[in-house]
Amino acid sequence: AIIRREDYTPFAWLVPETHLDFELGLESTRVTATLKVERNPAAEASPVLRLNGDGLKLESLHCDGEDCAGWAMDGDDLLVTLEGDAHTITIVTRFDPSANSQLMGLFASNGMLCTQCEAEGFRRITFFPDRPDVLSTYTLRMSGPKAQFPVLLSNGNEVATGEDGDNHWAEWHDPWPKPSYLFALVAGQLVANRDTFTTMGGRRVDLAIWVREGDLERTDHAMDSLKRSMKWDEEVFGREYDLDIYNIVAVSDFNMGAMENKGLNVFNTKYVLADADTATDGDFDGVEGVIAHEYFHNWSGNRITCRDWFQLSLKEGFTVLRDQLFSQDMGSEAVCRIGDVRVLRGVQFPEDSGPLAHPIRPDSYREISNFYTSTVYNKGAEVIRMMRSMAGPERFRKGTDLYFERHDGEAATCEDFIRAMEEGAGLDLEQFRLWYRQAGTPKIEASVLHSDKTTLLALKQSVPPTPGQPDKKPMPVPLRIAMFDRATGQHRGEQLVIMDEAQKGINFDGFAEPPILSINRGFTAPVTIERDIADADLAFLAAHDDDPFARYEAMQDLVTRHLVAAADNRLDDAAKASAREAIGQALANIIGDEAVDDLMRGELLVLPSQTYLAEQVLLADPAAIHREREGLKAWLGAELEDLFTAMHSRASKVPYSLDAAAKGARKVKVQALVYLAAGAPDVARAMAWEQYRGADNMTDRQGALMVLAGIDGIERTNALLDFYNRYEGNDLVIDKWFSVQAQSLHPNAIEHVKALADHPDFTLKNPNRVRSLYMAFAANPHAFHAASGEGYRMIADLILQLDPINPQTAARFVTPLGRWRRLEPGRSALMREQLERIAKADKLSRDTYEQVTRSLGD
Ligand code: ARG
Ligand code: ZN
Repeated sequence: AIIRREDYTPFAWLVPETHLDFELGLESTRVTATLKVERNPAAEASPVLRLNGDGLKLESLHCDGEDCAGWAMDGDDLLVTLEGDAHTITIVTRFDPSANSQLMGLFASNGMLCTQCEAEGFRRITFFPDRPDVLSTYTLRMSGPKAQFPVLLSNGNEVATGEDGDNHWAEWHDPWPKPSYLFALVAGQLVANRDTFTTMGGRRVDLAIWVREGDLERTDHAMDSLKRSMKWDEEVFGREYDLDIYNIVAVSDFNMGAMENKGLNVFNTKYVLADADTATDGDFDGVEGVIAHEYFHNWSGNRITCRDWFQLSLKEGFTVLRDQLFSQDMGSEAVCRIGDVRVLRGVQFPEDSGPLAHPIRPDSYREISNFYTSTVYNKGAEVIRMMRSMAGPERFRKGTDLYFERHDGEAATCEDFIRAMEEGAGLDLEQFRLWYRQAGTPKIEASVLHSDKTTLLALKQSVPPTPGQPDKKPMPVPLRIAMFDRATGQHRGEQLVIMDEAQKGINFDGFAEPPILSINRGFTAPVTIERDIADADLAFLAAHDDDPFARYEAMQDLVTRHLVAAADNRLDDAAKASAREAIGQALANIIGDEAVDDLMRGELLVLPSQTYLAEQVLLADPAAIHREREGLKAWLGAELEDLFTAMHSRASKVPYSLDAAAKGARKVKVQALVYLAAGAPDVARAMAWEQYRGADNMTDRQGALMVLAGIDGIERTNALLDFYNRYEGNDLVIDKWFSVQAQSLHPNAIEHVKALADHPDFTLKNPNRVRSLYMAFAANPHAFHAASGEGYRMIADLILQLDPINPQTAARFVTPLGRWRRLEPGRSALMREQLERIAKADKLSRDTYEQVTRSLGD
């Protein structure tokens, strides 16, 4: 069935109170749910109370203590017919958590029990109106064997505990009404890293991060991140925490990053555990960002939740923006921005230009899990960021204050947020609402027309058609712009242009020569820019633009143009040689520029990804793009060998720490190795071994391993074996061991992946492990796009095998196969063939079915 946004109706019943009693067992858990229900005066009256269920066994059902007069099953849902206005319904269900391989609802992980309820997992625990607009106050009792489940946690506060022979029990009460998707329970053998935080209002909050015994010493970074998040949200958004305890539990079997359950966040271990020996700098940043994200949800998500799942971006887009602003304040603003844009372009832009494109507020779905997308999250964040850019930080804060105040305790809509912004921040967002309705990445074409007196910046906007949306209207696109004067090499100030029409011209005076255009500085709008600009001017901006993002962008543009033309065989040898010279000169400038810190230098040195390059052409030939990109890299590695070697040796002297200079040093070391591995392999091999053996941190060690794993021969084997032996038993690091091989430039990567699927440490039951092998593989262009179609077949095989075990994770692997329309004809046909093979399978989950049919198109 297709669920549509326009069909929303309020639920006929309110559930003011929910009492849950869990008799816990790994193989069998019994749940007694007691719901107080009353008619919802704001909804159309109905005698039927629809309680959602999913795979539940109903043991008994009572209404006001009696057998229920009228009830029936409707598929998995339980329908209870009620006469009067208020009732108490008692429902007993039983299920086997250890058999729950979907990891939705209550499931077992390493001997402990935990829950994941967003979006629709609560219905796998008990029959309930499992929709975000039904808010209830929860009281819970759980009991179970004390030896097996010494720690018992749920939302809110612990109100009573007791013992009963070998069993014990605990009662929890959450004073804040919440939707069922925020319910959580954890029971198991866990230890805590404890700390406290005192809020601006003077509330002393007990913080605890719960992990398995051996993991405790890797939780300090998460704890620091949590305290910094709590402080930052007070200072920047005026948001204070509202319970006496805040618990975080790390689990190793988890479909996503983490979950913001009220007072009891459940996290993938990947976003909790970090120390120098086992986590890279990227991992440390990931922990900080996700800890902050889930904490910020306490206001943007929990205190104000979503009316229905079409409003998902209301909490996710806003919370991603909040975590991005936080990370920007904790580290380097420019480098964070570049990282955020890289994710947007690498994941969201392809989504927006492919068969799965949807607006940040979708219009319909079959399975809501499929809409936890980069569009809803990352583009959603960009849309709110544009409001912030247009209003400025102070007025934006007035808007968010009004939103939080007006809708506290409610299940709200995106429209509510927009209105609060209009009134609080003083913005006119009438036309801006299109950003919520229209899918597709807008394209802005910009050219500078100059005559002796005047300069005209001519802008054109178009929004490409997407599935179900053939025609689009122009949207307001806020572009920060500066014009550089050739005479001085400076610009005369920036301006924010709101490009809200199909065509627009802006005049500038006083330039004797045509100025150089720097546009979408800071990436103020999530659009693609096509600018009419000479390579020499891009090189100028790459060297001199005072906006660091614009500088990065100019460098990326310079390389992108060249590689796209080269892959399309549009360059003769002379043209190629001169383009390489120009790029080499620009990189040499960057390496030598003392005004740039290493973190930023690392960004400026990164080549555009193959996915990004493929996005720039209508029909991509992955082999040609790969050949040209690797060719350029090798040429640069050879040409700038001395510079890279010197940069590596300079950076190698910086001792390990987490400050920006040391992180930057590690980043440029990896970049140096990457170029040298391509252009001066013998030099790189020796350097990589030295870095590998001498490493006192995972960033250096993994960076070196990546290079060594790309070599053909015994050294590859030795390096991989050493790494495995060092970290055997540490799941998160063994995940890296799988990923490094699956992502490798090694010509036999595809064979390696096949062999790794049979490795004793590989399992389809653990999502992190599955992703570490197969997402890494699907993101490895030369292997995944093997001309034989073998890579596509491997991903299709995986989907078919994984679908019955974990449909939510299986469905995520359909995305890479959805690119068939944008590939050269040979690969396109092979890819499509695999989608069709999946579509023909006997029993597909709703998740995978929806993604495969959308990917094939009508
Ligand atoms: N709300 C969680 C977060 O953004 C993610 C939940 C994902 N749920 C899902 N069904 N994929 O932090
Ligand atoms: Zn979130």
